[in-house]
Amino acid sequence: MRKISVSIGEEKYPILIENGLLDQLGKEIKKIYQGKKIVIITDQNVNDHYGKKVVNQLTGEGFTTKIVVLPPGESTKSFDNLQNIYNELLEFKLTRSDLIIALGGGVIGDIAGFVAATFLRGVTFVQIPTSLLAQVDSSVGGKVGINLPQGKNLVGAFCQPTAVFIDPSVLDTLTGKFFKGGMAEVIKYGCIKDKAFFNLLKGLSSRQEIMAHIEEIVYDCCMIKKKVVEQDEKDQGERLLLNFGHTLGHAIEKCHHYTGITHGEAVAIGMYHTTLRSEQMGMTKSGTAENIKEILIQYGLPYELNIKDRHKLIGAIGLDKKNTGGVLKEILLTDIGESIIYDTTCHFFEI
Ligand code: GLY
Repeated sequence: MRKISVSIGEEKYPILIENGLLDQLGKEIKKIYQGKKIVIITDQNVNDHYGKKVVNQLTGEGFTTKIVVLPPGESTKSFDNLQNIYNELLEFKLTRSDLIIALGGGVIGDIAGFVAATFLRGVTFVQIPTSLLAQVDSSVGGKVGINLPQGKNLVGAFCQPTAVFIDPSVLDTLTGKFFKGGMAEVIKYGCIKDKAFFNLLKGLSSRQEIMAHIEEIVYDCCMIKKKVVEQDEKDQGERLLLNFGHTLGHAIEKCHHYTGITHGEAVAIGMYHTTLRSEQMGMTKSGTAENIKEILIQYGLPYELNIKDRHKLIGAIGLDKKNTGGVLKEILLTDIGESIIYDTTCHFFEI
């Protein structure tokens, strides 16, 4: 089993990574939680694959469980669902000393984590991420939240989990589109922090080959993320580097009304075009954008910016959370594995 310990202020929590970890879940939960009641928050797709297994693991160790199953998809991260979940927790008489498990991808991790951060002013929670994106990114670092009609993640908190349990073998049931989307975030880590990791990814091709190395890949990403969030939990500096490709990516998602394109696909396009621009400006080693384009093609990810209405795109960038007081804190690469925060404006993207 691979283990990482995350230390943020006074808080310390483990990330455990192992294929088949779900089959030992009951025992692992028993090691960190001495109470009785557990609420599992998940979505319909994940429940169909793993709900029964997780419940059996927990009841097998004597826990009393309740499972709350939400519809899959980004629209689940809403105030309406929040209210429904709080109702379910009240009905189950969940107390502050009980436990919430977030079993799912980024959407479930975000809303279940926000429930845990706010219900009764805070209940402990465990993240069990089941998508590649959640395993390498959103389950680590404590960002939780929901969406407003005006935009994504506009209400939220920083709330660290008690533990993160990652079973990469569950990725076998992930659709190709979402697996590829997750790979965009994996590639991002190589781009911002680790050239050797980027080159290792360049040496793999099929999904089968990636899955043969998946424990190591997830571990390497979580190690990078751990180091970043330990230095900067609240997004004041270093953590912003994790947003490489995301300014343009979020704007692309918004222009597509969050349908037909995954977050990872939008980030892929964002990483390439941001680097193309910074290379044109002489801030990035020549050939870097081409290197990124090659790896995106290799992983079946898009790189072309097909949005005709550039005014709309620039307008969406202007609404980015990293855009404060007219200054956009954009993440640029100077080379693969080397990233910087660059103060600019949304006009940087007028390509
Ligand atoms: N997903 C970016 C972050 O956790 O800061």
